[in-house]
Amino acid sequence: MRPKRSPIRSSTMPSATSSTSPSPYVADIHAMIRLNLLAPILATRAALPYLRAAGAQHGHAALVGIASASGLVGTPYYATYAATKAGLARFDEALRRELYGSGIHVATVFPGPVDTPMMATTQAGPDLGYGLRPVDDVVAEIVAGLEGRQIDINTQLPERRAMEDLNARDPLAVDAALAPKLAELRAAVSRHRSI
Ligand SMILES: NC(=O)c1ccc[n+]([C@@H]2O[C@H](COP(=O)([O-])OP(=O)(O)OC[C@H]3O[C@@H](n4cnc5c(N)ncnc54)[C@H](OP(=O)(O)O)[C@@H]3O)[C@@H](O)[C@H]2O)c1
Repeated sequence: MRPKRSPIRSSTMPSATSSTSPSPYVADIHAMIRLNLLAPILATRAALPYLRAAGAQHGHAALVGIASASGLVGTPYYATYAATKAGLARFDEALRRELYGSGIHVATVFPGPVDTPMMATTQAGPDLGYGLRPVDDVVAEIVAGLEGRQIDINTQLPERRAMEDLNARDPLAVDAALAPKLAELRAAVSRHRSI
């Protein structure tokens, strides 16, 4: 039987409601942080002794964190999700440095939107920057990245890469570029369960 799960909706909608007023979204925020950030940290901690043993034995152990493009560029209405993914990316980065020379390769994956069940409830499409990539294409890039021992495996489409580059150079320009589409985007993602 499937374990009972708290429903997790997208995004900033929860944080837009006051934490002092009772809101189902507050439970969603807790659930999202537990699932996206706390669980991988604790799972990694539990796996590390085995990874260390494998790394010492044959030097080919690997730890792969599945972050998100939202962990690179804070996307509107995904604030909590973005925070968990940015947190996971920094966790991986710190750990990679701790594990230097251990034989454990640490990689973080930054997918843009992918056509998986978790995207079924979003209405946002390519016009809003949410064109979905086929799973097989993304998986092939992740595998190639791991084989090439990349540390950051970024599977975003070129237009999302362009936004990432602009965000690094001029984050306020990204704010201004997204501003005209905010209302449309909010409506499109308002029912998205982002997990
Ligand atoms: N799809 C995208 O556009 C996209 C983009 C960037 C990053 N990601 C990340 O990629 C990872 C995989 O997502 P996906 O796209 O492959 O989505 P998916 O096909 O919907 O898979 C989500 C997985 O999470 C599990 N899950 C959901 N809620 C859970 C809970 N409360 N406790 C335990 N497990 C739970 C699901 O288990 P069940 O199969 O049992 O339901 C499923 O295995 C996620 O970390 C996601 O944030 C996805």
